[in-house]
Amino acid sequence: MSQCLSCVHCGAEYDIRKIRYVCDCGGVLDVKHDLSKLDGAKLVELWERRWGAKRGIEASGVWRYRELMFDVHDEFIATKPEGNTRLYPGGKAAEFAGLPRLLLKHEGENPTGSFKDRGMTCGMTAALMFNSKSVACASTGNTSASMAAYAASRGLPAVIFIPSGKIAYGKLAQALAYGGLTLQIDGNFDDAMALVREVCDEMGIYLLNSINPFRIEGQKAIVFETLQQLDWRVPDWFVPGGKLGNNSALSKGLMELHELGIIDKIPRIAVIQAEGANPLYKMWRDKTEYQPVRDPDTIATAIKIGDPVSWEKSIRGLEWSDGIVEQVTEQEIMDAKAMVDAAGIGAEPASCCCVAGAKKLAEAGVIPKDADVVGILTGNILKDPDAVIGYHQDTLEDRNIKGTYANTPISIKPELEAVKNVLVEKALEKL
Ligand code: F0G
Repeated sequence: MSQCLSCVHCGAEYDIRKIRYVCDCGGVLDVKHDLSKLDGAKLVELWERRWGAKRGIEASGVWRYRELMFDVHDEFIATKPEGNTRLYPGGKAAEFAGLPRLLLKHEGENPTGSFKDRGMTCGMTAALMFNSKSVACASTGNTSASMAAYAASRGLPAVIFIPSGKIAYGKLAQALAYGGLTLQIDGNFDDAMALVREVCDEMGIYLLNSINPFRIEGQKAIVFETLQQLDWRVPDWFVPGGKLGNNSALSKGLMELHELGIIDKIPRIAVIQAEGANPLYKMWRDKTEYQPVRDPDTIATAIKIGDPVSWEKSIRGLEWSDGIVEQVTEQEIMDAKAMVDAAGIGAEPASCCCVAGAKKLAEAGVIPKDADVVGILTGNILKDPDAVIGYHQDTLEDRNIKGTYANTPISIKPELEAVKNVLVEKALEKL
């Protein structure tokens, strides 16, 4: 067996063939690979050969890199396939950030519309490998949408715990439509997370939150695929947003590629958190112990989380990459989103933290203007239509957010003259 589970906190190792989510010391677990058995140059050759596979497991943008996932028989692999997402020039979003070389990796182009599918293909595969009969997760929406879809495609019941009234409509719609048993908890995500852990322990349901070490393995494929799209040229900066699973996966993937000699440059990682859900930022800024944030709040509901489980993995990646943590306001998130959307790319609010943060860091001179920067967009624009409409109709005053770049719909009479008047007013009459 060339892999085991290893504790990020104390280094204890466990058998990967037995279900386990945390170490006896309470620390989170990683899949640890014996990289000495792998040859970096041969892997790149293999991955290049698989690129563009038309069907089957190798068509997956996760299992293309299966040598760095985990050993499993093909029959268990639950793939749609996922990944193979685009890497866009930043366009208007790059101009807005003052970083002309900004690229945006759009993980909202995955099968259920978020980057969660990358981790979920691995999580669901592990569930099948362990012969689990049901799966569960707590979620702000995207994980549940993804889990419900993968469970449905393999005929497994899915139990979903969501914070009541706090998830975006597109995501709730998916969970219901894919047939997940959806339990709305009177509490926030952190309450739902505590409950699902208890339920899974007690009832033997397989837990598919990112505390599940196999989930993070799949999410590493974002960085593998980005680098393959860049012909293995390493950018200067990666800018993930979030609640810390994503950036933990990113740095783990980079560390493995570096150890294998596939890359020789270490890019810097800038983790961007929303101001209202910023435990890692506070710890970083104040050089204090980790402290969860009570009652987290942000319009980016996907990352409205006060106690992210992966914070220790995040710190490891930040130290390794000489990384930094930044926070962004509600207004900065939504203005950045307006620019990502106006670039014709489009993403949900949480995703756009990365552009808001990149802009802030460029203005502060931390990221040089000519740097090669890759931002990770995590979710599709259609996931949260309320946030989009609220911004463009300028009705987000309860959050103190102004529709700075609002594209407000205009009501007119159904007459040619009325159309002409609007076009003149908007200086579009020469169309
Ligand atoms: N972006 C989006 C769109 C998300 O849905 C999430 C997390 C994140 C970023 C942060 O993820 O922890 O991997 O960095 N959503 C979870 C969910 C909590 O339940 O869907 P991370």
